[in-house]
Amino acid sequence: MSEPLNKSELVKLPLHVAIIMDGNGRWAAARGLPRLAGHRAGTENLREVIRATVEFGVKYLTIYAFSTENWGRPQEEINGLMRILEDVIDRELEELNREGVQLRHIGHLEGLSSLLQEKVRHAIALTKQNDRLVLSLAFNYGGRDEITCAVRRIVEDGVKPSEITQELIASYLFTSGLPDPDLIIRTSGEMRVSNFLIWQGAYAELYVTDVLWPDFGREDLFAALKDYATRDRRFGKLSDRRCG
Ligand code: FPP
Repeated sequence: MSEPLNKSELVKLPLHVAIIMDGNGRWAAARGLPRLAGHRAGTENLREVIRATVEFGVKYLTIYAFSTENWGRPQEEINGLMRILEDVIDRELEELNREGVQLRHIGHLEGLSSLLQEKVRHAIALTKQNDRLVLSLAFNYGGRDEITCAVRRIVEDGVKPSEITQELIASYLFTSGLPDPDLIIRTSGEMRVSNFLIWQGAYAELYVTDVLWPDFGREDLFAALKDYATRDRRFGKLSDRRCG
């Protein structure tokens, strides 16, 4: 049974939380296990984190599961991560749908097996009317790649230079229609954004915790949200507290 947390402390909630789930390999190494055991463990806590996200009232959650750079990892690890995504969809889709979670994918489906592409497309189609939580899975995703593809399509569409605005560029990104992330959480202590939502996260608050991803749970998410509630977001302007 999970501990009661004082939710009145969350005086300001992010609409959109994005997570760089890091540290699976180190979690496994610390236990003398293969890296894939760390990735598997990193799916177990994901269920708890998704539940807690809904419980705390966050409406958008985006998780970084496989980057365009992860293709450079050993083939065995890549295959394992693909299998994990397949298993997660097979195992969790029904419940996610029942719980009102809408699944989205950001990144390229090309490059994944046709079976996996089919599973992801099916999951998206099945859940598209749900609105309790929008869960975006960044898989085969990279921020620079996303911007490059957007520019390419803008040019292909014959958009005039004078018509190019920030809103137009945003509408060509994989995240079109999603609000920008307010809070980006990174586990395992690394102080980097690693090509994740580099356009959308321009003004996101960053929260880095030393906790390794498989150990990150409901209370850690609560701590991140509590910290966010203390942040003074200025978006390049002056603080409300300093005005007047
Ligand atoms: C980073 O840890 C993690 C990844 C590259 C994969 C993230 C995948 C999961 C958490 C599994 C859930 C996946 C899906 C598809 C829902 P790392 O391997 O870089 O860890 P290290 O820095 O300690 O080596």
